[in-house]
Amino acid sequence: MAAPRLFFALWPDEPTRAALLPVQRAMRAETGGRALHPEDLHITLAFLGPVSEARLPCVLAAGDQVRGAPHTLTLARRGSWPGPRVGWVAPIDTPAALTELVSALWRGLVICGFTPEARAYRPHITVLRKAGRVPDADLAEPIPWRVDGFVLAESVSGPPGTPRYRVRHRWPLPAAEE
Ligand code: 2AM
Repeated sequence: MAAPRLFFALWPDEPTRAALLPVQRAMRAETGGRALHPEDLHITLAFLGPVSEARLPCVLAAGDQVRGAPHTLTLARRGSWPGPRVGWVAPIDTPAALTELVSALWRGLVICGFTPEARAYRPHITVLRKAGRVPDADLAEPIPWRVDGFVLAESVSGPPGTPRYRVRHRWPLPAAEE
């Protein structure tokens, strides 16, 4: 079997997802493109790509060793990146707790042999693919997202219209002390 394509991510709770959908709809009306399935909306923390079965225990251990703090992300901006042609929604700034969470994950992942991204981490939710340009703007109503956990997710391929990602494992924040 092919190695699963994995990434660590923040997965929105139901109220956050519900608040994102009208923003996604409005952006699509403006710029076209393909709307991500509601269940696929997420913020990537660390992208791994294909991961062999042999490496999976190390990846799970990297998640286990994170001692992050719960925090609130305020999604307040939207826009597009013409290169990858995605439409996105993002927080205005990156809370220190989120930066620390990403660093903590990478401290574990480096031990497994993964190489951290060279470019700066820019948290965002891709809401549209194959999108045209939509000007960067503030959201009419910022969306507060209480981040109290993170996940390991897998890219899957199913029939059109079905989710492209599957959550494989969830960790709470703060992690239980041993
Ligand atoms: P995107 O939404 O901005 O395209 C699953 O593909 C997730 O991993 C998506 O959130 C995607 O980001 C992200 N991703 C895909 N390829 C990546 C790469 N090479 N580096 C970082 N993130 C990547």
